[in-house]
Amino acid sequence: MVKVKVFDSTEARNSKRVPLEAPKTDARAFYDVVESRRSIRIYTDEPVPESVMRRAMDAALLAPSSSNLQVWEIHWVRTAEKKAKLAEHCLGQPAAVTAQEIVVFVARPDRWRENNEHMLSMLKANPKSPAKALQYFGTITKLVYNQGPFGIFRPFKYLWLTFRGLKKPTPREPIHLGQMATWAHKSTALAAQNFMLAVRAEGFDSCPMEGLDSKRVKALLGLPRAAGINMAISVGKRAEGGIYGPRFRFDSSRAIHEH
Ligand SMILES: Cc1cc2nc3c(=O)[nH]c(=O)nc-3n(C[C@H](O)[C@H](O)[C@H](O)COP(=O)(O)O)c2cc1C
Repeated sequence: MVKVKVFDSTEARNSKRVPLEAPKTDARAFYDVVESRRSIRIYTDEPVPESVMRRAMDAALLAPSSSNLQVWEIHWVRTAEKKAKLAEHCLGQPAAVTAQEIVVFVARPDRWRENNEHMLSMLKANPKSPAKALQYFGTITKLVYNQGPFGIFRPFKYLWLTFRGLKKPTPREPIHLGQMATWAHKSTALAAQNFMLAVRAEGFDSCPMEGLDSKRVKALLGLPRAAGINMAISVGKRAEGGIYGPRFRFDSSRAIHEH
């Protein structure tokens, strides 16, 4: 059984880590981006430079991901014919039909093992890799994410974690394939949000879309059943009438709870 070390705060602060600089940031610039991002449903015909798309996709891939396993994919549909098909599969909604570009963020829980092996081989190739990292990807992730063929480990994992959890804090998920999907979608959605904020920072606009036919989109992109369409995101420059209404949010007291 792998022992997970429990740190106290002094010990955690004193443990050896890569020294990190925290560069000065411009909070106002960040909030300008966050506040001016709106879901745009009608775009102008101004093209989006390829360099903008590439920088925004690179920013997407800087999102944090669970266990750093990066079980996400970005499918950028570039040919006019495929783009038209994709817009059709996005139910022909204006945000898709008028878009200059459309990317599809895809969650790939089924690729956890392959990514884990890739991580391990990269760690093994570097003699400076910490032993703890090798242990994490060599043992812990394999226990946590392996659900067995067709998810048959579920009852055993449930019993083991429930029993263990009686005595000490214990991670309870993921213990079945549905939770693996949730696990992969969480990280993928963070990448999608990075992408939308980057697009806005570049002076362009976007619209996230889950109003789509996931089965048809998967077929178009050549994806397997286990892949999950996280969301399609259209990109372009906002056109007159492209914002359907003023920004509306519930009162923050409905969402923010202090304990
Ligand atoms: C996961 C997700 C799926 C969405 N799907 C659609 C969609 O299919 N079509 C659409 O026009 N807007 C879609 N939206 C946009 C929301 O309607 C929009 O974010 C919300 O109304 C708030 O407006 P704002 O983004 O301008 O702040 C989606 C947003 C999210 C996060």
